[in-house]
Amino acid sequence: MTATQETSAATPEAGPAGTVRGVLDLDLPGPTISRHLYGHFAEHLGRCIYGGFFVGEDSPLPNEGGIRLDVVEALKALSIPNLRWPGGCFADEYHWRDGVGPREQRPTMVNSHWGDVVEDNSFGTHEFMALCELLGAEPYVSANVGSGTVKETSEWVEYLTRADDSPMARLRRENGRDEPWPVRFWGLGNEPWGCGGGMRAEFYADLARQFGTYSRNHGENRLYRIAAGAADADYHWTETLMKGLGHQLGGGAGRGWHGSGTYQAVSFHYYTVPGPWEHKGSATSFDTEEYYRTLHEAQRLRGILAGHAAVMDAYDPERHVGLVLDEWGTWFDVEPGTNPGFLFQQNTLRDALVAGVHFDAFHDHAERLVMANIAQTVNVLQAMVLTDGDAMVLTPTYHVFAMNQGHHDAQRLPLALRGVGSRGEGETQVELVSASASRKDDGVLVSLTNLDADGPVTVALDLRGAAVGDPVGQVLAAPDLRAHNTPESPDAVRPAPLEGLRLEDGTLTVELPAHSFATVRLTLQG
Ligand code: AHR
Repeated sequence: MTATQETSAATPEAGPAGTVRGVLDLDLPGPTISRHLYGHFAEHLGRCIYGGFFVGEDSPLPNEGGIRLDVVEALKALSIPNLRWPGGCFADEYHWRDGVGPREQRPTMVNSHWGDVVEDNSFGTHEFMALCELLGAEPYVSANVGSGTVKETSEWVEYLTRADDSPMARLRRENGRDEPWPVRFWGLGNEPWGCGGGMRAEFYADLARQFGTYSRNHGENRLYRIAAGAADADYHWTETLMKGLGHQLGGGAGRGWHGSGTYQAVSFHYYTVPGPWEHKGSATSFDTEEYYRTLHEAQRLRGILAGHAAVMDAYDPERHVGLVLDEWGTWFDVEPGTNPGFLFQQNTLRDALVAGVHFDAFHDHAERLVMANIAQTVNVLQAMVLTDGDAMVLTPTYHVFAMNQGHHDAQRLPLALRGVGSRGEGETQVELVSASASRKDDGVLVSLTNLDADGPVTVALDLRGAAVGDPVGQVLAAPDLRAHNTPESPDAVRPAPLEGLRLEDGTLTVELPAHSFATVRLTLQG
């Protein structure tokens, strides 16, 4: 059972074998699904920034200020709400002053986490803000708590957001930008328990108080400060933050995104890794057993979200503090022959189904979860686009983000399913159908994922509470689970019209092909 299934107002009737029956209450809108659940993450890692987003002004590729325009156009079509930068682990050894001013005068540094390569700092604060402006995305800046100073972070906030003639505002003007930028999202630290400093939760909570205190609101710019959180199901970390940040934790999420306290949210990270760390498994070459193990890992997120939310509920029952999953996605072995430190992996239909399952869980936790960022947008881990020189392909995951856009800032609808089969045991156990729905104005969007590797499934939804017009559907499917897009075959996995949709006597019937993701749009009438 999923959380949505448990919270439904109505109980669906069991249907004939092979049919999953459900109830969708069209007139019981729930919490808003923040568009920021569809956020992104770009780190100085492998070819995400350099070669992916940024090719330099002298590149023969169409660019604006060095930023690759084909990638920008592709991502703009997703209406990406926010972009987290510069890391990740990289953030905790990044010193922002090295990335401003004339490029030829910027110092170099060693990117010790990712490939041990020399970083030339040609993509820095101004380039990142220009990228966000081109994308129409809000910046989410991740500050260096691991090896940086409180002063450094305090000055970065001032540099970006202060309008008057303060020292940092003056420096920004000297570097060519007169007006401050509105930047509300600030992450103070990243994985402090690991690459971000190897700290204990108690130590980080104290340090976070200090960094939070000196990250100031300048003028009208209100910061939404995010404390760096747990790995996976480390509820002790979340509890320590909830206790340790104490009165510094204040409201914001869903209530104008700012509040009285210093911190408005705590984060956590969750990756879908099908195998042990030393052999995570190939992105494209996997058998059915490994496929199910991957989807099992993806479905574990639902329980982990519930676990963190329960800890937060105990300290913040009115849900003023947001939960942010600022890194999620599949993590496989790198593609053969590529730099192990660059985390470049292909992206198959399996990745798309992982994304579908995650979004259903996000929607079901919309009361507490206010932001999520997939890792990472271009050329790294579960990417939206992959580039190879001047070629660019859209991944199956990209299409899930595109098809789910109607959920941005929509109100979740209760959707209950009955008769969902499950398969396997233990580490490969998977519920075979996942779904969620939302409503915005007179539009309803239903998302459905069939995880069955072997066969189609019929879903029959009893629509209650309102009349709707004819349904229109799209499906993302392919004959092979391992199907993926390449420059030679860019459309091996792409959305197509969903055939066989029926609306009869208030029942919507959807035929989902084996291992597929689908969306159905309905228009409310009257
Ligand atoms: O996304 C890759 C890395 O995963 C990030 O840098 C780090 O925060 C996490 O461990």
